[in-house]
Amino acid sequence: MALKTRFTELAGIEHPIVQGGMMWVGRAELASAVSNAGGLGILTALTQPTPDDLRREIDRCRSMTDKPFGVNLTILPAIKPPPYAEYRQAIIESGIKIVETAGYKPQEHVEDFKSHGVKVVHKCTAVRHAVSAERMGVDAISIDGFECAGHPGEEDIPGLILIPAAADQVKIPMIASGGFGDGRGLAAALALGAEGINMGTRFCATVEAPIHDNIKQLLVKHDERDTNLIFRAFRNTGRVAKNSVSDQVVEIGSRPGAEFKDVQPLVSGAKGRVALETGDIDAGLIWAGMVQGLIHDVPTCQELISRIVRDAENIITQRLSRFVQPA
Ligand SMILES: Cc1cc2nc3c(=O)[nH]c(=O)nc-3n(C[C@H](O)[C@H](O)[C@H](O)COP(=O)(O)O)c2cc1C
Repeated sequence: MALKTRFTELAGIEHPIVQGGMMWVGRAELASAVSNAGGLGILTALTQPTPDDLRREIDRCRSMTDKPFGVNLTILPAIKPPPYAEYRQAIIESGIKIVETAGYKPQEHVEDFKSHGVKVVHKCTAVRHAVSAERMGVDAISIDGFECAGHPGEEDIPGLILIPAAADQVKIPMIASGGFGDGRGLAAALALGAEGINMGTRFCATVEAPIHDNIKQLLVKHDERDTNLIFRAFRNTGRVAKNSVSDQVVEIGSRPGAEFKDVQPLVSGAKGRVALETGDIDAGLIWAGMVQGLIHDVPTCQELISRIVRDAENIITQRLSRFVQPA
């Protein structure tokens, strides 16, 4: 048996499971492992220092899988923004067929990708943003609930409401993101109107994730309460794993009149990278979601994806169908 949806069709993949873009984690080792297991692996463009490095990483990923994989382009407001147009060009010229866009004002990127025949999955955290991305011409939506790692937005709508609310308004295929980690989640996402799931945190706790084992074990040890919401006061909320750094960021951010510069020394991406690579849990911010409460092991991507699909199929065909009985 297999779970076929409009999203598996669109992406040319076997299982409706996507590995979302992840800064410092979305490298060829992980993306190729997810794609080889029948999901859609995604490289993270900005993890590569330059557009040429991204070209090389795409080539490296291609040498590790002959299955489709995508690239994430995250557009964040910055005083000195990265050369987005050049990263976009590297993606197009490398022959990538599907991208995940995330962040602010994706229009110019969506238009260029579309005009070069690249499919766009836009990730967003609000129904109105999903509707406007659909109008912009994207091919699919990834809707990210409040449970998610990363930036859940400022409206705090959990997936149980956000997914069906978006499904009511969006006609193109939609995948559900935020808080997914097992077959129950996949079956639930399909029931709520999505055509697949996107996972971030769960894929960090896999054999192939290119991060230190201490971080993987932290995700196993943590439960659903072990996240912090940072940057709330600056209207740029982020959900990260609870550690001494994120505790401090929350404390400083809650002081009256706090400004971003007060927390800036603690939150640099470089420090987060040190935590992920050296396994020093308190070296910086570690992005992770509430789904930590459902992570109990560190399987290979193949084991994880097979298990999720098998469990979802069993739930749909057996557990749920048993509830339906003659009146
Ligand atoms: C370590 C880490 C880094 C992330 N970095 C990015 C990023 O650079 N761009 C992006 O669009 N999303 C990023 N995300 C969010 C994921 O792509 C995904 O939307 C999110 O993890 C889904 O929620 P989940 O963790 O509950 O599965 C990151 C998530 C994690 C765990």
